[in-house]
Amino acid sequence: MIEVSASVLNIEKDNATRDFYNLETAKVNYFHIDVMDGKFVENNNVELMKDYALTIKHISNLGLDVHLMVEDIENFIDEYLMLSPEILTFHIEVTGTEERTKKIIRTIKNEGTRVGIAISPDTSIEEIKPYLELVHMVLVMSVVPGKGGQKLIPETLEKVKQLKKYVDENNIDIDIEVDGGINDITAKEAIEAGSNILVAGKYLISSENINEAVQKIKM
Ligand code: DX5
Ligand code: ZN
Repeated sequence: MIEVSASVLNIEKDNATRDFYNLETAKVNYFHIDVMDGKFVENNNVELMKDYALTIKHISNLGLDVHLMVEDIENFIDEYLMLSPEILTFHIEVTGTEERTKKIIRTIKNEGTRVGIAISPDTSIEEIKPYLELVHMVLVMSVVPGKGGQKLIPETLEKVKQLKKYVDENNIDIDIEVDGGINDITAKEAIEAGSNILVAGKYLISSENINEAVQKIKM
């Protein structure tokens, strides 16, 4: 079953509650919270994303799919675990050692939250193979992390295919999320490559009819 995770990154503050309501009505599965610390990526939206996550927790029952594009992973995990997110995802490019990676995974799992591990476009799936049995989801970035509204990088879907082949051959039950540049065309390509969770931001928020846009991605 294909799930859609709506990125709130490009939602204007003045329209936020209206957009959250419209997205929930359009039956997205999660709200994708893109936390950027200004260090791992250039932009810093820490306060705004916390504000959006708190608002969503108050007005919606949909799960938070939190994407940490941050260096100080441990502090952000502590902060977001208080909101009981559905999924908490960190970037493998940040952790540095197997020991730190496994400690982060354990910390998130001990709170009963699903763990995601993210790889940027230039990162090979070899980097995350040691952790696939330990996590619930791989987030394959299909754009360079840091902003919404970018074009999907086609080569990243080759990585999705490699990853899907590997997890199937090794009987690893794991979700594969593709994040960045998803629209009605690229959604099909990402699903064919093996993804089952699609993050969409600009395509949904800028669509005339969000309900239709969500259905087009899920098909
Ligand atoms: C980029 C974020 C993505 C992005 C998705 O760093 O991780 O979630 O905002 O937005 P669109 O769908 O507009 O590419
Ligand atoms: Zn994201």
